[in-house]
Amino acid sequence: MAQNYFYGTITVDQHHTDEEKKAILERFPAPMYAVDSSAFHIENVEHGNHVNGIVVLLNDYKVEKAANGNPYLKLRFENSMGSFAAKLWDNDGAVEYALPLLEENSVFEISGKVEEFRGFKSITLSRIKPCTSQDPLNPFDLLSATQADTEALVVELYSYVNGLEEPYKTIAFKGMERFWREFSIRPAAKGFHHNYLSGLLKHTVGLMRIAHYLLVQQDNHYKGALRLIQVVEKAHKEELWSNLSLEKPMDVRKLTWTDTIDHLYSIFYSMLEFSTRQPDYSMIICSIFYHDIGKLLEYDHAGKGLEEFEFLFPTADRSVLEQRKPTGITMDSLGGLIGHIPLGILLFNKILEKEEIQMPLEEQVAVLHNISSHHGKIEWGSSTKPQTIEAWLVHFCDFLDSRYEKSEQIK
Ligand SMILES: [Fe+2]
Ligand SMILES: [Fe+2]
Repeated sequence: MAQNYFYGTITVDQHHTDEEKKAILERFPAPMYAVDSSAFHIENVEHGNHVNGIVVLLNDYKVEKAANGNPYLKLRFENSMGSFAAKLWDNDGAVEYALPLLEENSVFEISGKVEEFRGFKSITLSRIKPCTSQDPLNPFDLLSATQADTEALVVELYSYVNGLEEPYKTIAFKGMERFWREFSIRPAAKGFHHNYLSGLLKHTVGLMRIAHYLLVQQDNHYKGALRLIQVVEKAHKEELWSNLSLEKPMDVRKLTWTDTIDHLYSIFYSMLEFSTRQPDYSMIICSIFYHDIGKLLEYDHAGKGLEEFEFLFPTADRSVLEQRKPTGITMDSLGGLIGHIPLGILLFNKILEKEEIQMPLEEQVAVLHNISSHHGKIEWGSSTKPQTIEAWLVHFCDFLDSRYEKSEQIK
């Protein structure tokens, strides 16, 4: 079934029989997030209605000052249906009472009234207490997950990888086999793009779609890149146009494509230096699979497995991991100290070593370079600047997909 991506410019056209799909999904099962229709979803509650004892995860909170000078609490909660804002007014010392109980990324039971202001719904709390439920909590009831069709994403990922030349096909499949469960559920961020379960899967497929468009669907990747830049320019003009107002100043930071056009052209100019060289498509897709794989260790969330720590740190005493308690989507207290780019480099090399995959040194280093430079600039977290056509293309795909995500209403 053909599907459109990137404002309808990229066609995702996958042809698989039901048997083929079944075989792929048996090998790489799609994560299933049973959407519990009875789960609390703020959009389903009318303004003025009360909610009672709902179990949610506290994302963050801060103390603010009301117009009368009294403190009040501004909080953000999350469950499988998404996140929402709440307030606690300081009636009878409620703020002072609640503050010592609050802990970010812990589970609470809350009651209050749903209110709507300028189209945004929030809850004014009447009660908040740490969750004491005796029933074991299902972590996937507490965290938001992608609303995309996860089976379709898995089948699409599989077909890109299955179409690669060796050794890249084996290298990517070995990574998928080893880390499948974690790779398929991990978010790709905690607050910016793809900050929900299966965000990493969706983001990885998004980059592969762009790379496939540029290098397979188009006869010339430079022309393909210019077409995508043109789509971005048009989308940016449209978002500026539709947000124009004479009543209040526009917050351009909230738009999807602010400050992206110059950077896209600068990537394009850098790519032109390599115009006599045909990019290695298989190396690019394989590098895309591994580009954010370090996020397996960089992020933490309830329900996360810990095999990656065992894989990378086999000789360490890992008892510290057993004391972890379920949290929302947050930086991993250990992995966050290293960062996903160096972790990706470690994981890629370890896979090659464990699977005894032979490849020329310059190609192994080229993939590591694609991982290390995929953020494009040192100040954006890259450890090196892209220096090859493949690295520029991986960065181009990463930059476009992470920004495009901001424009999508549906996860
Ligand atoms: Fe990244
Ligand atoms: Fe990325």
